[in-house]
This record gives sequence, structure tokens and C-alpha cells, in this order.
Amino acid sequence: MKLTFLGHGYVGLVTATIFADLGNTVYVIGHTKEKIDNLKKGILPIYEPGLQELVQKNIKAGRLIFTLDYKPAIPGSDVVFIAVGTPPKPSGEANLSTVFEVAKKIGENLSGYTVISVKSTVPIGTNRKVKEIINNAKANKAEFDVASIPEFLREGSALQDTLNPDRIVIGAESEKARQVIIDLHKSITAPLVLTNLETAEMIKYASNSFLATKISFSNAIAKLSEITGADAIQVLDAIGLDKRIGKEFLQPGAGYGGSCFPKDVKALISIAKSYNYKFSLLEEVENINKQARQDIVKKATKLLDNPEGKIIGIFGLAFKSNTDDMREAPSIDIINALKEKGAKIKAYDPQSMNNAKGLIKDIEFCKNIYEVAKGADLLIVATDWNEFKEADLVKIKNSMRTPLLIDGRNIYSPEKAKEIGFTYIGVGR
Ligand SMILES: NC(=O)c1ccc[n+]([C@@H]2O[C@H](COP(=O)([O-])OP(=O)(O)OC[C@H]3O[C@@H](n4cnc5c(N)ncnc54)[C@H](O)[C@@H]3O)[C@@H](O)[C@H]2O)c1
Repeated sequence: MKLTFLGHGYVGLVTATIFADLGNTVYVIGHTKEKIDNLKKGILPIYEPGLQELVQKNIKAGRLIFTLDYKPAIPGSDVVFIAVGTPPKPSGEANLSTVFEVAKKIGENLSGYTVISVKSTVPIGTNRKVKEIINNAKANKAEFDVASIPEFLREGSALQDTLNPDRIVIGAESEKARQVIIDLHKSITAPLVLTNLETAEMIKYASNSFLATKISFSNAIAKLSEITGADAIQVLDAIGLDKRIGKEFLQPGAGYGGSCFPKDVKALISIAKSYNYKFSLLEEVENINKQARQDIVKKATKLLDNPEGKIIGIFGLAFKSNTDDMREAPSIDIINALKEKGAKIKAYDPQSMNNAKGLIKDIEFCKNIYEVAKGADLLIVATDWNEFKEADLVKIKNSMRTPLLIDGRNIYSPEKAKEIGFTYIGVGR
């Protein structure tokens, strides 16, 4: 098929590249000359394991074409994907201005029959607005249908997730559009959920909000475990063995972050509010998530007595491992709160430091975790990178001024850390 993608971020670039690799001809339309020039050379604006090699392979094969221009891409495309960002407005409501902006331009360039597939996470009713915008913008007799194909990939394992999804949700109005999308996915084996536009839109928000709820539930159990003397890790592992609950996403820690959970929980609260439903469960999910970050700061303040003038080393900045994404990363709130208390911060992250430099000011960025630890009064693990798990803790401890360790992701064994000589504090243990 001939496909076009609007948006070359974590969703757009990954999905475009996978579909190119499966043999389709894929155009990716961007809006920044510098990014598109780089992409043509195989230089990516994001880090995602394995993606660069696959992009370069498909550029070489002539199946992946980057452009700023709608003209060579949209006319004759079988499917046009909208995969641009939908960031939160200050009210929590999703900002749809880019979705609507590109929809208008798509409409102006349509020809033949095209399925417009919205991959961006959008509030209920948005696909119908996209349809209206395209209808108003299109000048000729081009025909189209809109389909809502929400995306569930996870940053850090996005390629595997795209090739092996748990399900493919296809919200479509017409049988013709549904069949085009089914054909496009024929080499990807996964249960198909065939539904209408509104249900597909809701599935995405419900899915992310439920996952965020699991994380906040885990953090609430962790907090209570710390007070009562229970071990939250064992509690959550044990409840996860119940098939009705499931093992995934029951890890307590510094809270959820990233570009999706915080914004999608906020957006669903806001959608509910617009229909006069107070989604108080999700409001509490947000509160517990905020507390999880604050608890790390409280633990640091207590351990150090007073953080003023103390050196605090941070292991990891990205919102989770295997990504360079800093959006809503817990590390930002933790570092800012500790800076406000007068602490000096040193930090290292394997992939996100360039992004972090634009967001966190007046801290020292180090070359590795050993440099972070040198002379530090306290270390805080903010991201669960594998390379941190394999670190030489003896070397780290010996280079610190005082061996205090807050393991905000529970990546180390408390027994081993204590044996080495650390004062160790995890989450919920
Ligand atoms: N990141 C994830 O893990 C993930 C997973 C599932 C769903 N989503 C959803 O998918 C959507 C995209 O998320 P993302 O993480 O890929 O965002 P992103 O910020 O990484 O990418 C957005 C892309 O849109 C491009 N863009 C902005 N304005 C444009 C314009 N006028 N024309 C063309 N391109 C334009 C940007 O350059 C960027 O490449 C969001 O709605 C998000 O909620 C994200």
C-alpha cells in the first residue's frame, strides 16, 4: 500500500518504519526542515532501541520517504495516519490544534479513496471532528473514511510492541475502511477489536488510565507497607499471581511519568467533567502519583537531616529506562524540590541528558554513575536502567562522602546494599 504519516515522534516514526519494513511505500510528512533533512540522512529526532538501523535500511530500500510537502504524499495514499502530539492544555484537556491543522491540509490534498486513520490519542468525538474538517477542506470529489486506530506501543520496546501487539483496535464507520485497515495489518498477528469511532477513542484513555491506577495502587500499598512493616514487593507479587489481577504494572516507585499516562489521566478526568461526571477515582490516582515523587524528597530530607549544601547524585533522568523521553519524568520534580532545599545535584542518564539539559537548570551532568557518586552525600535512583542494576556498588559506596542510598525504583537488593555499608531506603520495603 501507499501510506502517509503525519508526525515522526515515538508513534509516527516507529509505525511508519515498521509498515515500510513490511513492504509498503511510506511517506512521512514533517514540519521542521532541520528534522526532515536529518531524517533523510537516517538521523532520528528520538531514541528508540533498534529504530535507527531499521529507518536507515528502509530509506535505502526506497520504501521510507521523508518530506515537508503534502503533494507527493497524500494524493493516492491508501491510508493517511495522523500521529501528531496531543499535549495537555493547562486545564488538562487535550490540545488538538495540531490534529486539526494537519486534517485540514490532508483534506486539501486528497484524491481517490483514502482512509484517514487517527493514531494520536484523542478525546471521544475527535474523529468525527476530523471528518468534518476534511470534508470542509476537500475541493474535489475525493472520497474518504475516518478510522480510529489507537496506539498502545511502549517507548523502549516500541518496535516489538508494534509487531506483536496485545490487540489491534479498529474503530471505523464503514466496512470498506475497516477492510483496508485489516488488510494493512494482515502480517501482524493479534486479536482484532472491531468497533465504532467513539469506543476506539475511549479504549485508549481507559487503557492508560487503568494502568496508571495500577501504579498508584501499588504506590499506596507501598506507603502503607512502609508504615506497617509489610514488604510491598512481596504483597504485590503475591496479589499479581491472581489471574484476575495480573503481575504487570504492580511495581511501586517514584510514580508514573512520560508523555502518556499523566496527560491521558488528566484528559479523561477532563472529558468526564465535560459530561458532568466527576471521575474521583482518577483524581486520587493523580494525587497518589504526586505523593510518590514527594515521598522521595521527604525521605531524602529526613536522611540528610537538612539537604542544604549537600551533594545529591541522581541515577537516571528519563521517565523510564530505554528511552530518552523526559516528558513528565519524576526526576524533574524530585531534583527541583531538592534544589529548592539548597542541595547541589549531580546526575547521569544514558540517553536523556540532551533533553534534560533543556528542562533542568543548574545541575551537574556527569559522564557516568561513578562520577555522580564521587563525593556525594546521597544517591537517588530515579530510573531503572539495566546498566545501573549491574553497577559496582562497592566502588560507588567507597567514593561517596556518606553512603546513603534511596532506591526510587527498587532495583537493588536491600540486604546486599546494607551488607556493602549503605544506609538503604527503597519504596515499600
Ligand atoms: N509516546 C508513546 O508511547 C505513545 C503511545 C501511544 C500513543 N501515543 C499518542 O500518540 C500521539 C503522538 O505521540 P508521540 O509520543 O509520538 O509524540 P511526539 O511528540 O514524539 O511526536 C509528535 C510528532 O508530531 C510532529 N508534528 C507536530 N506538528 C506537526 C505538523 N504540523 N505536521 C507534521 N508533524 C507535526 C512532531 O514533529 C513530532 O514528530 C499522542 O497523541 C500520544 O498520546 C503515544
